[in-house]
Amino acid sequence: MIVITAPEQMHEWLHSYRGGKSIGFVPTMGALHAGHEVLLQQAQHENDITVLSIFVNPTQFNVQSDFEAYPRTTERDLRIAEHHDVDVVYMPETDRMYPEGWRIFIEPGTAADPLEGLGRPGHFRGVATIVTKLFNTVQPTRAYFGKKDYQQLAVIRQMVSELNFDISVVGVETVRHDDGLAMSSRNIRLSDVQRSTAPVIHQALVSAKNLVDAGETSPDVVINTMTSRLAAADGCRIEYIEIVRQTDLQTISTINCPSVICIAVWFDEVRLIDNIEIEPPQR
Ligand code: PAJ
Repeated sequence: MIVITAPEQMHEWLHSYRGGKSIGFVPTMGALHAGHEVLLQQAQHENDITVLSIFVNPTQFNVQSDFEAYPRTTERDLRIAEHHDVDVVYMPETDRMYPEGWRIFIEPGTAADPLEGLGRPGHFRGVATIVTKLFNTVQPTRAYFGKKDYQQLAVIRQMVSELNFDISVVGVETVRHDDGLAMSSRNIRLSDVQRSTAPVIHQALVSAKNLVDAGETSPDVVINTMTSRLAAADGCRIEYIEIVRQTDLQTISTINCPSVICIAVWFDEVRLIDNIEIEPPQR
């Protein structure tokens, strides 16, 4: 008989007992692009089996029309999955995820409070709930999330830790177009003019990082420089620019720890987010 007192010990014992193959899991809402493909490649590379899920999750949308308008490109997605040697594509029906009378939500932790949490109430509650359901069904060894959605990654990491999931969460670098714009299924909704202006988001982030690398430690100075740059870009409306700690996404008053600059902007009805990691200046 074995007596185990810690969750990670229990997980370790289960691993050796089962001796099973590793499962790499990439949860998505479909409309796959090169950003998703990099997650699939990494999962494929690091695991015996790759599972991709495609599910447009109604509970994470703040506006019903956004949910309805979300691009659904299943045929194309399946071809991409095949191309990346995905072993299983999991595409559950909505009423199996949210059956008549369902009520249980996962309340996300503190990482869900700032940034996106302020402008999109309930969004991360929906994300945490669906990701829990997917984790419980797929039972992956490793789950892959993009740093493009930096806060989502932090919310999932915190949830996995607080709920004792036996899953390693892997963060993957943001994939960008040649001009720096982060790949996103929303980009196709930009007009030609907006599309040609949008790379200013990444340019402003890179200039801000350079400023920090050159010794600037005041978040206000960095944010003000970015604000002026973006204010000069036609049709670009800033929702927020924040500098937060990488670990818990709390606001900082001096850049003295590994941090991340997070930004959300609007081009008319299209909302884009991006971020860049920064390190405190060397002394
Ligand atoms: P979705 O927007 O389809 O994104 C699926 C995954 O792809 C997320 O982890 C996201 O961060 C990552 N991703 C998107 N664009 C990327 C890019 N340019 N570079 C790198 N990774 C990128 O995020 C969701 O779906 C949902 O919230 C989900 C987690 C599936 C829960 O419903």
